Amino acid sequence: MFHHEPPRATAIHHEEPMSRENSRIRISTLDEPGVTLEEMIRDVKAGLSREPKDLSTSPKYLYDAEGSRIFEEITETPEYYQTDAEFSILRQRSEEIVSRTGCRTLVELGSGSSSKTRALLDALLESGGPARYAPLDVSESALEESGEQLASRYPDLDIQGYVGDFDKSLRSLLKSAENGSGGRLVVLLGGTIGNFSPESRRGFLRTLRESMGEGDHLLIGVDLVKPRETLERAYDDAAGATARFNKNLLSVLNHNLEANFDPELFAHRAAYDEPHQRVEMWLDSLEDQEVKLPALGMDVRFEKGEGLRTEISAKFTRESAAGMFEDTAFHMLDLYTDPDELFGLTLAAPKG
Ligand code: SAH
Ligand code: AVI
Repeated sequence: MFHHEPPRATAIHHEEPMSRENSRIRISTLDEPGVTLEEMIRDVKAGLSREPKDLSTSPKYLYDAEGSRIFEEITETPEYYQTDAEFSILRQRSEEIVSRTGCRTLVELGSGSSSKTRALLDALLESGGPARYAPLDVSESALEESGEQLASRYPDLDIQGYVGDFDKSLRSLLKSAENGSGGRLVVLLGGTIGNFSPESRRGFLRTLRESMGEGDHLLIGVDLVKPRETLERAYDDAAGATARFNKNLLSVLNHNLEANFDPELFAHRAAYDEPHQRVEMWLDSLEDQEVKLPALGMDVRFEKGEGLRTEISAKFTRESAAGMFEDTAFHMLDLYTDPDELFGLTLAAPKG
């Protein structure tokens, strides 16, 4: 997960073609290292010192190789409706999105398995002419696995993957993915925008805007507000995949920070905060306990029943989806939804 080397001066550190013969996939790093141990120490120290204890401001730590694998498992549970709903919108609308935006390059942030992106890539290739795909993910394992599948499915697509952190690397990513011919469509799927706090979401969109030109567009997936039971079930599936995903964060801390969290001594909880329109994931301590984190130089006490917030996942209405772009110099062109209005895809463009 970590890149300890200091950043080099060029935009791309190295280019390592993957081992598949004839593969055109390259995976590179950007100016900034992906996730560093120093950063993790700083973020976790700050989060565990808050009241209540809160690691939800750094959702990226949920995605080591195991976390990425469990996330894919979640997307296959019957309770987690988001993936199917978003894929159905993409199958329905990709052709229209590609022709409306005139894009030739797809830049995907937090691409994960890239499985739903295939609908957009199919439409991009069918529209004719050379096409590029530039996925960025903090999870190297997710990029490598998806890269292999994409290489065999799309021999004519120019694919350049980046291991990196979109909290830091938007500028250098968009610079690397500059395209002289045709605009770029920057996509953030899976409702990942909901994992940002409102302030960091605004900062993220403003930074993106600074790096995007007039011919570029933005496509962002948003999960829509719905009844509490449906939402809480989606984040507490019967097979226990979400609980494992949540507790895996403790293993990430143990592994990287020499901590001694016992995942068995915490219970997964998902709660819908209706006033803030967001689902929150928590780990509740099952007993009074003290956890050692030598890399942080601190021990942390948990009282029985005390919660550690690990993720927020904001849900949107048509109005709040449009409102998300206020003060960011983007305007929303459209909100596409599935017939049951479970999920939405916002298409936005830079304001002139
Ligand atoms: N887009 C995929 C995956 C969503 S899960 C889908 O819709 O199914 C969120 C993805 O974002 C994960 O692959 C995770 O590794 C990635 N991610 C989370 N925080 C990140 C960050 N700060 N920088 C880059 N990628 C990040
Ligand atoms: C990636 N992200 C949008 C997921 C979500 O729904 O907030 C992560 C997730 N957390 C629990 N289940 C899935």
